[in-house]
Amino acid sequence: MTSPILVTGGTGTLGRLVVPRLLAAGRPVRVLSRRGGDHAEAAPGAGTAATVEYVAGDLLADQGIDAALAGVQTVLHLAGGPKGDDEATRHLVRAAVGTGQVRHLVYVSVIGADKVPLGWFRAKRDAERAVAGSGLPWTTLRAAQFHDLALTVVEKMAKLPMIPVPGSLRFQPVDAREVADRLVELALGEPAGLVPDLAGPTVYGLDELSRGYLRARGRRRPMLPVRMPGAAGRAYRSGDNLSLAGATVGRRSWEEFLAERVTR
Ligand SMILES: NC(=O)c1ccc[n+]([C@@H]2O[C@H](COP(=O)([O-])OP(=O)(O)OC[C@H]3O[C@@H](n4cnc5c(N)ncnc54)[C@H](OP(=O)(O)O)[C@@H]3O)[C@@H](O)[C@H]2O)c1
Repeated sequence: MTSPILVTGGTGTLGRLVVPRLLAAGRPVRVLSRRGGDHAEAAPGAGTAATVEYVAGDLLADQGIDAALAGVQTVLHLAGGPKGDDEATRHLVRAAVGTGQVRHLVYVSVIGADKVPLGWFRAKRDAERAVAGSGLPWTTLRAAQFHDLALTVVEKMAKLPMIPVPGSLRFQPVDAREVADRLVELALGEPAGLVPDLAGPTVYGLDELSRGYLRARGRRRPMLPVRMPGAAGRAYRSGDNLSLAGATVGRRSWEEFLAERVTR
């Protein structure tokens, strides 16, 4: 019997796209998340012979990880949050090493993890290091911000009477479906270490992302240029969160995503 692929965070934005792709490839999946339980609505693998099983565990609290890893040879580590991805990843890595049977650990990080001096990026960098230093065969993909995240940001900002726009903030948002495709390809392939970044096809200022969203909603808002101070501001002005050379470039644009997701 084929051993299940453990997908941590398989109930999240990215995970819900990855799981059906693995099932379609005929691979049984076990999903670890804090809620666990029966996520029938999140298992659009119907029609394939492969099955998905949901287990509860908390990577940050170091709970439920050993049970989730039972019989697993490939781990696709997608679970993440605003804080603690370093600690959570160290717990996962330690447990995975302890099983003596994990042959491939795949991790999703973020472009700029090694450069941007902000807590979330630093935690992703330290998580990357935990994976690379684990002694397990590994693959890490750094992705740009997903369109979904960019949408959440511009939606919130559009609720303000005036949108503050740090001129230094640029993004290369990428379609989460394309990130899911790539991660499945990586998980089903051989361990490859740090692979080329995956970014979206266009670099946008935050003002351009906001304008695109406002246009799609048929709204207008004034924008207020602001300066981002400190080391983080310097990093963003230098484009440290971008991948302008050597990245794999996604095809779906922000405008196409908005056309699918935003209605007037
Ligand atoms: N969003 C982006 O733009 C972006 C860009 C680059 C990289 N990434 C990375 O891609 C990954 C997925 O992002 P996403 O946007 O899909 O995240 P998301 O929608 O917030 O989903 C996070 C997933 O992780 C699980 N989770 C969170 N904390 C956990 C814990 N302590 N123990 C076990 N499971 C936990 C959540 O389920 P429960 O809440 O049920 O536990 C959920 O399934 C993350 O590692 C993120 O850092 C994201």
